[in-house]
Amino acid sequence: MRASEVRELLKLIEQEDIIPFGGGMPDPTLFPKDELARIVEEVVRDERALQYSPTEGIRPLRETVAKLLRSKGIEVTYEDVLITTGSQQALDLISKVYLDPGDVVVSESPTYLSAIGAFRSYEADIAGIEMDKGGMDMDGLRSYLDKEWKRCKFIYTIPTYQNPSGITMSYERRRELLEIAREYGKPIVEDDPYGELTYEGEVMKPIRSLPNSDFVTYLGTASKILAPGLRVAWMVGPKDLLRKCSLAKQATDLCTPALTQTITKEFIDRGYLAGHLEKLRSIYRVKRDAILEAMKNYFPPGVTWTHPNGGMFIWVTLPHGMDTSKMLPKALEKKIAYVSGGAFHPDGSGENTMRINFSFPTLEEIDEGIKRLGELIEEVGG
Ligand SMILES: Cc1ncc(COP(=O)(O)O)c(C=O)c1O
Repeated sequence: MRASEVRELLKLIEQEDIIPFGGGMPDPTLFPKDELARIVEEVVRDERALQYSPTEGIRPLRETVAKLLRSKGIEVTYEDVLITTGSQQALDLISKVYLDPGDVVVSESPTYLSAIGAFRSYEADIAGIEMDKGGMDMDGLRSYLDKEWKRCKFIYTIPTYQNPSGITMSYERRRELLEIAREYGKPIVEDDPYGELTYEGEVMKPIRSLPNSDFVTYLGTASKILAPGLRVAWMVGPKDLLRKCSLAKQATDLCTPALTQTITKEFIDRGYLAGHLEKLRSIYRVKRDAILEAMKNYFPPGVTWTHPNGGMFIWVTLPHGMDTSKMLPKALEKKIAYVSGGAFHPDGSGENTMRINFSFPTLEEIDEGIKRLGELIEEVGG
């Protein structure tokens, strides 16, 4: 296990004068505090919400989640839903069930830092497959599986508004991924915390909603659409895997807090989610547009970046030979924070890349921070 650069950075965000492009946090001013306060006031008087819950989760929330998933084309009932303490726990449980030391998880490269952490904590290796504008490179995936078919236990993907790249996998690739996984007999784990946060273009359907996708494990969470402090998330997947994950969860934390499960259920059942998502989308869209505009205005020639249609992140690539990790102390002197790209690459490459978050900083911070970052890149690269 290694200290995560992001966790270290989150500590810095507490230093108020740092402009925080580093974390992956929602805009705290958008938490639906009034609605949640009303719900909490009632729910906390319900004895069931203060009790242990079944390990699988309280049935009313599992039913609510199943309904939500059906509205996205994922045909499930409450029995197919396991509630987890954040999707991070689902990643841990899946690793516990699937992985032995020396096994391999195939993922996009770059990929979610704490997924790398979860897989590595079970002594698995991660094989990163390169991406382009359409997501994971399918030829790369095929040739890896041809070589290492036996060691690979599952394929991990964040197909929509990926963390960290902001890239979305095209439908063509989603179908191809399903085909390849079926052909090689490998399960897919689809992690989808950002799918609801679309600011432009088509709303993408999850891989798990496409035909013949029953073998895909799908992870959703309340963290980015409601509040990460609730630690409520959900997982659907093959029955045998769910049963084993549920057994593993029992040994881990017995159950996700009934209190936050009930709060989440009430928030959705009272019909607050749709309006809240509209608000998130409209404000995050403005922030995304502002950061893209600032990058266009302040970044020197030779720097490139992604144009995400949703989510919370932009992936920036500096000219070859630059090192964002070495540049970070200077960035902190200028009171700006980002995460350098090497952390997201299973093989540690990508030293000239960085992840920039745009959901957490304010509009003023976005403009000023990107200006300072542009100056820094110019100074260091010049
Ligand atoms: C891709 C991805 N998966 C999982 C998580 C963890 O989410 P949760 O708060 O539900 O544990 C995150 C959080 O940033 C994420 O970006």
